[in-house]
Amino acid sequence: MAETMNLALGAMRFGSQVPERTAFELLDRYVDAGGTLIDTANCYAFWADPDGAGGHSERVIGEWLARRPGLRDRVRLSTKLGAQPVGPGTWPDNREGLSAQAIKTAVEGSLQRLRTDRLDLLWTHMEDRSVPLEETGQALAELVTSGAVDRLGASNHALWRVERARGVARTNGWPGYTALQLRHSYVSPRPGAPVPDQSHRFGWVTDDVLDYVSSDGELVLWAYTPLLNGAYTRDDRPLPEAYDHPGTARRLAMLAEVADELGVTRNQVVLAWLTGGVPAVTPIVGVSGVAQLEEALAGAALVLPEALRARLDAAA
Ligand SMILES: NC(=O)c1ccc[n+]([C@@H]2O[C@H](COP(=O)([O-])OP(=O)(O)OC[C@H]3O[C@@H](n4cnc5c(N)ncnc54)[C@H](OP(=O)(O)O)[C@@H]3O)[C@@H](O)[C@H]2O)c1
Repeated sequence: MAETMNLALGAMRFGSQVPERTAFELLDRYVDAGGTLIDTANCYAFWADPDGAGGHSERVIGEWLARRPGLRDRVRLSTKLGAQPVGPGTWPDNREGLSAQAIKTAVEGSLQRLRTDRLDLLWTHMEDRSVPLEETGQALAELVTSGAVDRLGASNHALWRVERARGVARTNGWPGYTALQLRHSYVSPRPGAPVPDQSHRFGWVTDDVLDYVSSDGELVLWAYTPLLNGAYTRDDRPLPEAYDHPGTARRLAMLAEVADELGVTRNQVVLAWLTGGVPAVTPIVGVSGVAQLEEALAGAALVLPEALRARLDAAA
């Protein structure tokens, strides 16, 4: 199948807030529409589980694949490690981290739950500065060399740490990170504002990130929470406080204007703005029903006329 759709399906809530049956429906529709990129993490969704353990999302995807023989080769599984709570204490202090042993154990668990023998993209979910970059880098490289993992990505890492880790990989002849996953949408947060509800100080896409990805030639950028949990269109989803600044009002006004001119929804303009920009960004949408998915699929397929994109860019 040609990989033309630049939209990843976020499975974070599958098996917890999104029941298995609905998750199967969403996965089926996404793949039928030509989607190939499925994003999860070994820790999803520990915060929604009374036992505080993740794994539900990977299990649902594994079960879905098991019931659809032949489909594994049509999708690319992307999962993350490093943030799963293990042992006593509170998160994030009790997360598994990025030691060689933690990486080995985490990947074994993910492969088992996903019922596959390989991961197409493995992300380090957040940094672990207690472990030398060399140890993490070598453990990740061994997974690629063994064929268990196809490529590596970094999520929520400080940019200088990503570049340093890639330098370590280059020096040692190891495969390094070729993908970044960060929070990004059409409206931008105030500089210095923390990522809402998470311990990801460096979780935002900044101008520095866009410049790094555009100049690199190898790195790709995936954006999480691109629809701000529905805040562009829903009164019950206020924008997080981090977006409280005058530029947001100007962007929201321009978004409404462009959506009206094109006769599409604001969510669709946001997704089209992300996928068709420079650098092209892969939005990861979290959906809980087929209508939301259909809206997102149409948004990812929308090509913004240049003049409208320029107006969207200029509103700040
Ligand atoms: N790397 C990381 O640290 C990280 C962090 C967060 C997320 N992620 C990834 O990114 C994916 C998406 O993140 P997200 O779920 O936070 O972001 P999102 O896509 O911005 O928000 C998803 C929620 O927005 C609402 N929504 C979606 N489409 C809508 C539509 N068309 N109209 C109205 N409301 C709509 C739904 O809420 P209801 O279900 O309540 O209707 C849905 O659950 C996750 O599944 C995960 O794979 C990664």
